[in-house]
Amino acid sequence: MRAVRTGRVVLVPVGPNNARDLWEVLNAPDLRKFQDIPRVPAEEFERQVRSRPRQLRPNATGRFEWLLRAGDPERPIGWISLRVNDRTPRVGEVGYSLVYEARGHGYASEALQAVIDEAFATAELDEIQACIVPENGASRRVLDRNGFREERLLKSGAVIRGRHVDVLLFSVTRASWDRARREHAERSATRSAR
Ligand SMILES: CC(C)(COP(=O)(O)OP(=O)(O)OC[C@H]1O[C@@H](n2cnc3c(N)ncnc32)[C@H](O)[C@@H]1OP(=O)(O)O)[C@@H](O)C(=O)NCCC(=O)NCCS
Repeated sequence: MRAVRTGRVVLVPVGPNNARDLWEVLNAPDLRKFQDIPRVPAEEFERQVRSRPRQLRPNATGRFEWLLRAGDPERPIGWISLRVNDRTPRVGEVGYSLVYEARGHGYASEALQAVIDEAFATAELDEIQACIVPENGASRRVLDRNGFREERLLKSGAVIRGRHVDVLLFSVTRASWDRARREHAERSATRSAR
């Protein structure tokens, strides 16, 4: 996996060297309301990270994750992950979070755009999915801004703090990503021809 720099955010691949930084972010307050984040000791988390795949490439499966860094001085502000299941190796699922102080600046939307580009271009996925609880308006807006479409409600689709909850499934396809990129390129060409 490679590091990716967007306009304001650096996506640093998570590996044994920075697993503890991610572990600290995972334990920041106000992250568990809408998602399940297992509480594990730092050493166990580092062991889990060591067993993850190293390279995002076609047909690679497992959990790929980036620590998000931004600000001046630059510091960890959250994470974004892409999970690819063995049973559906052409479909990925994204997840993301920002620490409380980093919200409301567009960092999550910027990071998600970068991971979508990386997943379609490098891993050659056909579809990327995301699941949110219906009341997570901030996360829904992040998905909307990145071209995800609401697909359907999954009854008891997730477990949060030990309780089964319904989740909305969103997805973006390679075809719609290609179309959006072509339209963007055409608009840029028209602007520079004026
Ligand atoms: C979901 C979550 C990552 C969204 O964070 P966020 O800061 O709202 O999302 P972004 O970083 O994309 O920021 C977008 C917001 O910043 C605002 N913003 C301010 N300055 C901006 C700028 N320069 N550029 C873009 N957006 C900017 C936007 O208007 C937008 O606000 P709005 O959604 O109220 O319209 C965050 O709420 C979170 O971590 N929640 C807890 C964990 C969680 O729920 N994770 C998702 C589980 S599915």
